[in-house]
Amino acid sequence: MIHLASDTGEVFSHSYQFAQRQVRRLIEKHPMLYPLHTKDGVWAHEGEIWTRWSDGFLPGMMWIFAKHAEPESAEAKYWYENAVRYTTPLEPRKKNRDAHDLGFLFLSTYYRWYRLRHEPAKKDVIVDAGSILATRFNEKGGYLKSYVGDNSVFIDTMMNVPIILYAARETGDRKLRDIALRHARTTRRVLVRGDGSTAHEGIFDTDTGEFLRQATHQGYRGDSCWSRGLTWALYGFTTVYEYSRDPHFLETAQACADFYITHSPADGIPPWDFNAPMENRTLLDTSAAAICAAGLLRLCRLVPDSMKGHLYWSTAVRILRSLCEKHLGKIDPKWEGILKGGVYHVHKGLGVDESVMWGEYFFCEALERVLW
Ligand code: GLY
Repeated sequence: MIHLASDTGEVFSHSYQFAQRQVRRLIEKHPMLYPLHTKDGVWAHEGEIWTRWSDGFLPGMMWIFAKHAEPESAEAKYWYENAVRYTTPLEPRKKNRDAHDLGFLFLSTYYRWYRLRHEPAKKDVIVDAGSILATRFNEKGGYLKSYVGDNSVFIDTMMNVPIILYAARETGDRKLRDIALRHARTTRRVLVRGDGSTAHEGIFDTDTGEFLRQATHQGYRGDSCWSRGLTWALYGFTTVYEYSRDPHFLETAQACADFYITHSPADGIPPWDFNAPMENRTLLDTSAAAICAAGLLRLCRLVPDSMKGHLYWSTAVRILRSLCEKHLGKIDPKWEGILKGGVYHVHKGLGVDESVMWGEYFFCEALERVLW
């Protein structure tokens, strides 16, 4: 266990308390709203179905807060009751065959709930969701298709694959494991480049299963490195390595981490796309930084080389410190989010330079990992 310098620990604890205050504020101001991003710092929901992939992250933060509150305290009761209230309505979505995002929804909620209370019915929800996600497997191409079409694979799906591996482990179903690992191998082959950068989307010929080209929706270009996609890959391959212990996945997670580290500015907060044109590169994505910090804090425990492990840990701490010192919403009392400077969709003008719910969640997860 590496200890934080005491002033760093204090910065992190204050930021964690600020995060709790902002989540309470949201619960009280907009009860039962699951917003995706803020508009001028105020939580808003666009309502389109394809934007609902992030509904688990608000209750996910409540599970983090419930876990670390003083046992039996009013605070623990408050967070537990709200976590249950916001998590339960998500259950029917375990049957959704049209989304590739069931891991985002259920690993942040039912998985945390099960880990806290060990009620078997909660585990069943995760297993059901994992089994349904596996039905999106395209046999010829060897990938889980994205929600946009049968010919498409997204880098984000690497964050969802672990729910299939969880279902495989809990049920002993080797077919599920095979699907998850084949998806991860295909993603590694077609979306992770030799220098560790990543593409957002891969397009296949559905008749033959042949990979055709790299493309993007939220990145700058098909051949660029969208920073959030890179961090989904870093975190996703790390988790797949945790389940599979296949060293190729560790190597891939490290390649993504090393690309992030060598291409980010000194404070560790990346531009929204590493290849965005210079005039547009001042637009950052703090959510990518938060995901990266959370992913590095998992990866640092897994690498055999202790110097590398220390580099990943200290980079995560540096990123978190920058987020806490320069990007918290508390510098603006009207701001309702925790982290400023996140980006959802530049091309559609959605959630640009705003708070975004997954950024909030992975920031809290990273703080959880350094504080406890
Ligand atoms: N849909 C995942 C993302 O926007 O990163």
